Amino acid sequence: MIFIRHFSVLIIITCQLSSFSQSFTDDKIDSLISIMTLEEKIGQLTLFTSDWATTGPTIRENYLEDIRSGRAGNIFNAHTAAYNRSLQKVAIEESRLGIPLLFGYDVIHGYKTIFPIPLGEAATWDLELIERAARIAAEEATAGGLHWTFAPMVDIARDPRWGRIAEGAGEDVYLGSLIAAARVRGFQGNDLTKNNTLLACAKHFAAYGAAQAGRDYHTVDISKRTLWETYLPPFKACVDAGAMTFMTSFNELDGIPASAHRYLLEEILRDTWKFEGFVVSDYTSINEMVPHGYAANNKDAGRLAINAGLDMDMQGAVYYDYLEDLLAEGEVSIQTIDLSVKRILQAKNKLGLFDDPYRYSDEQREKEVVLSSANKELAREIARNSMVLLKNQNSVLPLQDSDQIALIGPLADSPIDMLGSWHAAGQANQTTSVLHAFNQAGKKVAYAQGCTIEGTDTSGFSEAIEKGETADKIIMVVGEHFNMSGEAASRSQIRIPDIQQLLIKRLSELNKPIILVLISGRPLCLNWELQIADAIIEAWQPGTMAGPAILDVLSGDHNPSGKLPVTFPRNEGQIPIFYNVKNTGRPMQPDNKYSSKYLDVANDPLFPFGYGLSYTTFSYANMSVDKTEISDQEDLNFSVTLTNSGSVAGHEIVQLYMRDPVASVTRPVKELKRFEKVFLQPSESKEVKFSLSTEELKFYNSDLQWVFEPGEFRFGIGPDSDVELTLNVVLK
Ligand code: GLC
Repeated sequence: MIFIRHFSVLIIITCQLSSFSQSFTDDKIDSLISIMTLEEKIGQLTLFTSDWATTGPTIRENYLEDIRSGRAGNIFNAHTAAYNRSLQKVAIEESRLGIPLLFGYDVIHGYKTIFPIPLGEAATWDLELIERAARIAAEEATAGGLHWTFAPMVDIARDPRWGRIAEGAGEDVYLGSLIAAARVRGFQGNDLTKNNTLLACAKHFAAYGAAQAGRDYHTVDISKRTLWETYLPPFKACVDAGAMTFMTSFNELDGIPASAHRYLLEEILRDTWKFEGFVVSDYTSINEMVPHGYAANNKDAGRLAINAGLDMDMQGAVYYDYLEDLLAEGEVSIQTIDLSVKRILQAKNKLGLFDDPYRYSDEQREKEVVLSSANKELAREIARNSMVLLKNQNSVLPLQDSDQIALIGPLADSPIDMLGSWHAAGQANQTTSVLHAFNQAGKKVAYAQGCTIEGTDTSGFSEAIEKGETADKIIMVVGEHFNMSGEAASRSQIRIPDIQQLLIKRLSELNKPIILVLISGRPLCLNWELQIADAIIEAWQPGTMAGPAILDVLSGDHNPSGKLPVTFPRNEGQIPIFYNVKNTGRPMQPDNKYSSKYLDVANDPLFPFGYGLSYTTFSYANMSVDKTEISDQEDLNFSVTLTNSGSVAGHEIVQLYMRDPVASVTRPVKELKRFEKVFLQPSESKEVKFSLSTEELKFYNSDLQWVFEPGEFRFGIGPDSDVELTLNVVLK
């Protein structure tokens, strides 16, 4: 009887599903849910990692059986067209209902062609380039069988001790929000039914970047004002750009872990922002409510999470283990479960997976798209635009053809470290190092590693010094190993490792020009290096085409144009340090003891937000605004004449900053409001114009209402956040 019953049910379902397959529209999802068992429903709320990669502390053995039984409806860390086809086949042909799997992966800055780390991409301030990089990442990832990326990471970060500062767009809300939206557009494209589009995932919701002391996973304790003013806007930009999924953060916020935070997940995300996608936990973040001290056990954590609006459980197997009992005990309703199931099935349907579950597993397309020369050329383009020239004394750069070069340092020929954290399926053997690039370009260099990235072995120093003695200029590629930033990689001291500093010091005794190329996933404290080096380039972790891109900048083939998306402190004691601080009641006065300052270091950073030099110079003149008095509904129109006053063509990123000096709550001393990247030939001038509506002068008042207040506003236009605000406008 069971067989017959089962067989007849199977007939009904097959007919129903097959009738769905031609046009599986959303209203059919309710029918599908109506024939799903509770176990199958919970399977759709479950996300397990395959054993192809580990991105967290646990791995499960029997995920294949879970797919077969319908108890795992989503898999991450599995990729390639062939492998994902094999897993999809198990779901489609061996499970009772044949509901397609959703495949997720951390395609953070590229799939196999790796772009600069997101902090490096942000340093381009080039939204079009950033969107193109995300688009190419999606082209490759979808060719590799993937449907969903756990990106963009949009956490505002103002503490460079926090290793995950590498993964975002830096410290600024305005720049970070624009970049967040560009990445969502790049990943999702304009039609999710196309097989080259990825579901985006705005993460980590919310305020993960405010971890105390920059220590990963640490407590976040900020005001609601800071939450709304600083940490939420990039997430809202993702909702506005149509992001289909969100991921909760590990941290607690205001005493409640984000994965059970109803204020975040229901009141803000659903009720206020009208988000209709689904929310996934971070890796076992539901389980982690127990050590947080918010849940007595995993079952309790599952109850709190599902009832707070968390739809999918990543790797924790909490819903998998306890949701059936919680339902039976009346701790969760079937309506809640069905709503989460529906959100996830709708996302699968938007990708067209019910029409063709194998549409992302096209091995021919994979061969054609992945690591194509066009993709690598784009990677080179964005990498050279990401680099920030921090110092160039006596124009030691660009290199001259006649220069005899010594290329020294542990990162001069270390391909894997060019890829940075979260480099997905990027491979070292597909990456060009700086040494390779010089060799490929036929440029003779005397190379020596000199030392390892960390450690105490100085035995390589003598060879490095010997090579340095033969050279006119010494290029040192120094900085961090790729896993010294990213997740679980906070550093209490953010300096170039001691052994490398020692090597720099020894080579500086040769009294030859020293050019430092920094490979890092974060700002570094460079006080004494700034004294010793003649030139410093922050290259971040430039990706697959690191070597050619760095050579493009060193040789002058590309005039560096990057600007810092994050402040560089003088020392760790200044942290958190960022440009749009409040003025305080005792702003710093050098000769006033009782003013806000340190005894042992200046208040200002080593390099400010928005800073970056060029091989040419730019001058700003005739800065103006068209009104000195306006009412609520008018726009302010600014202009400035920018001139390339140097001898080579180049880009300048012109920045408009604002201050509201008196308001019903204290306002920052500066806020970035506009920027434009301008290319000028030598002696060429351009009138750069910005328009600002009074809507953009609004802020959250003491009741957290988004308001406009008349009064005086100050504006300034310049090359970085140190700009003076000399344009005063009274808004009536
Ligand atoms: C990690 C990260 C998250 C990532 C996830 C899956 O712990 O916090 O950013 O997407 O697990 O790998």
